[in-house]
Amino acid sequence: MEKKIKSRLHLINLIIKHENDIPKVRTKVKIIANCMGFDRFRIVQLATSASEITRFMVQNFQNSKLEINFIQIKNAGIQMLFTASGQKKLDMLSKNDYEFNITILNNFFDFLEIEKSPDENKLSINCITQLKDSLWDELIAKEEEIRNLCFKDMEEYYLENLKQKHSEVLRLLKETANKNLELDKMNSQLWQLTSDMEMLAQERTITELTLKVADKIRNPITVIGGTAIRLIKSECLSESEKKKISAIVKEIEKLELIVKEFDELSMGKSRFFEKENLQDIVEESYNEALMVLTQQIAKKNISINLIKEEKPLHFITNKRTFKLAFLHVLRNAVYAAHSEGKITIKTGFSENNSFVEITDNGPGIPDEILAKLFKETISTKPTGTGLGLILVKRILQEHQGDIEIETSKDKGTTVRLVFPLRWKEAGK
Ligand SMILES: Nc1ncnc2c1ncn2[C@@H]1O[C@H](COP(=O)(O)OP(=O)(O)OP(=O)(O)O)[C@@H](O)[C@H]1O
Ligand SMILES: [Mg+2]
Repeated sequence: MEKKIKSRLHLINLIIKHENDIPKVRTKVKIIANCMGFDRFRIVQLATSASEITRFMVQNFQNSKLEINFIQIKNAGIQMLFTASGQKKLDMLSKNDYEFNITILNNFFDFLEIEKSPDENKLSINCITQLKDSLWDELIAKEEEIRNLCFKDMEEYYLENLKQKHSEVLRLLKETANKNLELDKMNSQLWQLTSDMEMLAQERTITELTLKVADKIRNPITVIGGTAIRLIKSECLSESEKKKISAIVKEIEKLELIVKEFDELSMGKSRFFEKENLQDIVEESYNEALMVLTQQIAKKNISINLIKEEKPLHFITNKRTFKLAFLHVLRNAVYAAHSEGKITIKTGFSENNSFVEITDNGPGIPDEILAKLFKETISTKPTGTGLGLILVKRILQEHQGDIEIETSKDKGTTVRLVFPLRWKEAGK
């Protein structure tokens, strides 16, 4: 047979990596052979030999490829060019392995060439089959039809894959953006909280100091002032002595004025703490927390019940930090609650305290975690900081209140934020 190829039109490349590729090769070869007008017997012969070579490639090499071309030698024909490399050393293949059924393959192709390159561990099998009397131009005219048939399922597969990857990428991007947003929010909350805490502490120090000063001066003034006035009234002092003592009383009055100013300063309205109704603040905090936690609540289909004490419970609070504490506790409860779980938020009061408690029906807090909760940052969550409850405790301390936890395994947890019914801090 004449070997010189006059024209070549490349049709398709198929990568051969695993057993699943064998039927793929078979189908493509069948389609192309069918379009060439081969009879059924020949089509089956070609497809079978192509899939047998493919099987051999899969079993012995890591990377293989099949390139199918239209070629023109004398007449038009198909060229199937298998190339393989990697894995098994060619030398180690038994003669049967690569000269497998060569005699049979020879019957199927007009031209078959096997090239080995043991140094590079490569093998190529070039198979050509020709049509007896087809015109090259007619075949070229069919090119598009053949390509369409060959690529149809591949395109769909490719598109489907692409669509999936695309939506996966979008989802990840959205998730990352949301996470970043949440992190930003938490960051600014934390920053605000820290500066609030500093201000609160500063304010408390000033209040305590002024009260102390006022107290320390008030008592001696009372004693000195009282004695001085008694002395002025007494008859055993001369007029000039009484004048001198009057001067002392005047100075004492000045001191008293200063003490009064100090008193007023500490009694003055706090910049941070205001008298509020616990029920109103809880309702506000709950509505705001819902906006942040909607997704998690909906995902688990958690139902939340808010039970409010009827009687107004006035307490002194810093609204912003209160809301933050509430959000942290509710977030923990939502995380802990089972799917279809229940959370109850309840306000109430006891002798000296008012409280809001959040109860979930989650797994409870294990003893070893509970023991460390406020002593160190501890978290059982993949992205938890373990700072949440420590912050809540600090906020409660600034409110002269406390946090109480009741928990039992598999039954759930109640976190109670307790506030003094009246501001206990001296001077309030
Ligand atoms: N309601 C709860 N039910 C069960 N375990 C809880 C509950 N609340 C807190 N915990 C446990 O206490 C740990 C500490 O909670 P904390 O709020 O301090 O930090 P975190 O929630 O882990 O992290 P972060 O608050 O930064 O998201 C949690 O990891 C969890 O193991
Ligand atoms: Mg938390």
